[in-house]
Amino acid sequence: MLEAWRIGPLGPLCGEAIVPGDKSISHRAVLLGALASGPCSVRGVLNSADVRASIDAVRSLGASVESRNGSTEIRPPSVFRRPEHPIDCGNSGTTMRLLTGILAADEIQATLTGDASLQRRPMGRIIEPLRALGVRIRGAHGDRNAPLSVRGPALTSAAYELPIASAQVKSCLLLATRGLGGSVKEPARDGRTSRDHTERLLRRMGADLRLNEQGWLHLKPVRALEPFSLQVPGDISSAAFILCAAAAVPGSDVVVRGVGVNETRTGVIDALRRFGADISVIGEGESSGDHEPVADLRVRYRPLQGCTIDGHVALAALDELPVLAVLAAFAEGETVIRDAAELRVKESDRISRTTAGLRSLGVQVDELPDGMVIQGGRASGTSEGHVDATGDHRIAMAFAVAGLAGATCQIDGVDVSTSYPGFKSAVEALCGA
Ligand code: S3P
Repeated sequence: MLEAWRIGPLGPLCGEAIVPGDKSISHRAVLLGALASGPCSVRGVLNSADVRASIDAVRSLGASVESRNGSTEIRPPSVFRRPEHPIDCGNSGTTMRLLTGILAADEIQATLTGDASLQRRPMGRIIEPLRALGVRIRGAHGDRNAPLSVRGPALTSAAYELPIASAQVKSCLLLATRGLGGSVKEPARDGRTSRDHTERLLRRMGADLRLNEQGWLHLKPVRALEPFSLQVPGDISSAAFILCAAAAVPGSDVVVRGVGVNETRTGVIDALRRFGADISVIGEGESSGDHEPVADLRVRYRPLQGCTIDGHVALAALDELPVLAVLAAFAEGETVIRDAAELRVKESDRISRTTAGLRSLGVQVDELPDGMVIQGGRASGTSEGHVDATGDHRIAMAFAVAGLAGATCQIDGVDVSTSYPGFKSAVEALCGA
């Protein structure tokens, strides 16, 4: 259900917050847990619409998933059963792309569908390489979109070089080739890749998966995947809204506890530093083996300067770029965001949504094919804007930050249940509202 918010300044954000579990890791825990050779136990799984889509999907394949007292038990079936109905992935690209990879290694026939936004997102990027592996897969609109009909198993192992850096596509192919083994390479940015949560979890489950110096990920054929027990860290992509609000509202001082700081995800910290924000990473957990590192993040307000966000920082801050673009409006001078063409094929076209929203606040923005140029220095409290989030959770929360920072916003089409259901009350608590 879409809501409408009117958000204006509530004063500085002060105190401590805990954000819900990481969405990407929660999906993987549920989806890969359904492949394990025994029951898995996961604490802190994100309770959001997107992750519920993954839970319902594996249930329809015969897995049992039960949550009690903050712990989720996943009991995989001995073999997948053919789902009775099309699997509804809702709004979740991660569910659709990873699950298609999982099913591509199996013999059952399944159909995967999703909401209107998911049905517009590009699926040719998984259909084409899966077909090359011998998977029978079809999609709508000339094999470009969902619904997808898939029937494995993959028949050949192959080395595939991805044309774009995408964790979802990389994960899909690793999962599809788990029986036969395979190799995947992404276009690296300054030597960095997209998020590596699938690789870490596969290794924890006993898979022999190695990254060589040329950037190829080699997966040896997997016979059985060991069960795991893990704690999902707080989602840095959700923490980003609180951290950016604190960076933009004078007098703020917040600490977000227990946030995942895997280096493939910390672009928002690098970007905040480029803006000159006062951010500290407290007790940064060593990334021991394939465990996900965790830290507390503190932001104290100080004036910001425009900066450039590009290359590996843009990749590791991909989902945070809309809120970083909003932050740019409150910094002195110009901010350039580049190397982010993938933003156009997220839950919405986030470059055009963010540009339209900022312009309605009176901010001067040039839209680029792969980013934006934003003229900052707009004085807080001088304008009121109107934004249509079109159901895209991250656009809604990004413009809520604009409201908190002084540019009162009427935001329509709000649905944050996808990733951060308690966002509004968390912010109000920090503002003492
Ligand atoms: C995700 C990967 C990213 C990200 C998405 C979640 C994942 O997409 O934007 O919100 O969980 O693998 P791509 O890396 O596929 O572009």
